[in-house]
Amino acid sequence: MPPAVIPAVTAHGCTMPQIGFGTSQLGDCGDLVATALKLGYRHIDTAWKYGSEKGVGTGIRASGVPRSEIFLVTKVSHEYLRADAFARSVDESLKNLQVDYVDMLHVHWPTVDKIPLAETMGALARAKREGLTRHIGVANFNIALLEEAQAVCSEPLATLQAEYHPYLDQTKVLDYCRRHGMVFTAYCPLARGRLFKDPVLMEIAQARGKTIAQVVLRWLVQQGNIVPIPRSSNPERIAQNLDIFDFRLSDEEMRRIHMLARPDGRIANPAGRAPAWD
Ligand SMILES: NC(=O)c1ccc[n+]([C@@H]2O[C@H](COP(=O)([O-])OP(=O)(O)OC[C@H]3O[C@@H](n4cnc5c(N)ncnc54)[C@H](OP(=O)(O)O)[C@@H]3O)[C@@H](O)[C@H]2O)c1
Repeated sequence: MPPAVIPAVTAHGCTMPQIGFGTSQLGDCGDLVATALKLGYRHIDTAWKYGSEKGVGTGIRASGVPRSEIFLVTKVSHEYLRADAFARSVDESLKNLQVDYVDMLHVHWPTVDKIPLAETMGALARAKREGLTRHIGVANFNIALLEEAQAVCSEPLATLQAEYHPYLDQTKVLDYCRRHGMVFTAYCPLARGRLFKDPVLMEIAQARGKTIAQVVLRWLVQQGNIVPIPRSSNPERIAQNLDIFDFRLSDEEMRRIHMLARPDGRIANPAGRAPAWD
């Protein structure tokens, strides 16, 4: 059974439910988002780029769950990092979602067009000051970009959203987030399905009476300041992915899963847009 109350993590005054529902590639996802909310999810991840914002808005309204109980995340795409374009993109996202504000607004990818980071971070901070978002963060920034972003941003960055699953070592970036009191929001937490035949994960899942997806999501949340945002188009799996708060992995199981990291583990690495990863 999914938990009655989902644990939360906090960073710079921001309280986030410790698991979210991802909506990339789900398109017209109103029914799935309503299902997720009815099952107990209170954190929904979308982005202008995914084309799922309208579906997310429809799903929120159809679910009957009050807006105030939902942690809603969207992102401004890399094409719109100039201040004026950024502001227009935020307005469009709010219209798509049919809400007055989001809870977290991200820069989706760092600029590749030599737009000064200070201009983009200024636009992000302004969206917060104007009440269009309660909190701000960045996605897909490396440590050097995070340092620069924090130096030029007048508002605290509560989270970094980046890829993380057992096949990808994120030790350096996680250390940075911990030192700066930031939450690490883990995207592709199930490695888009690539780890479902892994023998180590299979063995642990069998011993625990859980699925591989549940073991992997548990491994992420058990590390502390990590919030996975798995996506599924299947109601049973949507429920399953929430049901990870009633067991603990042993230190040895955690260690064995950490050992699965491999050099070719990264999935999201768009040429010309990805920074030099740490
Ligand atoms: N900031 C960024 O740049 C960025 C980049 C990528 C992703 N994201 C966010 O992170 C979210 C998650 O990442 P993702 O969608 O790329 O991949 P993911 O969540 O790692 O994997 C999704 C895949 O896993 C399958 N799956 C889900 N639960 C399962 C379960 N319990 N058992 C078996 N299979 C299961 C899904 O298939 P079914 O649908 O058939 O269940 C789907 O094919 C995205 O939706 C998006 O919101 C952000």
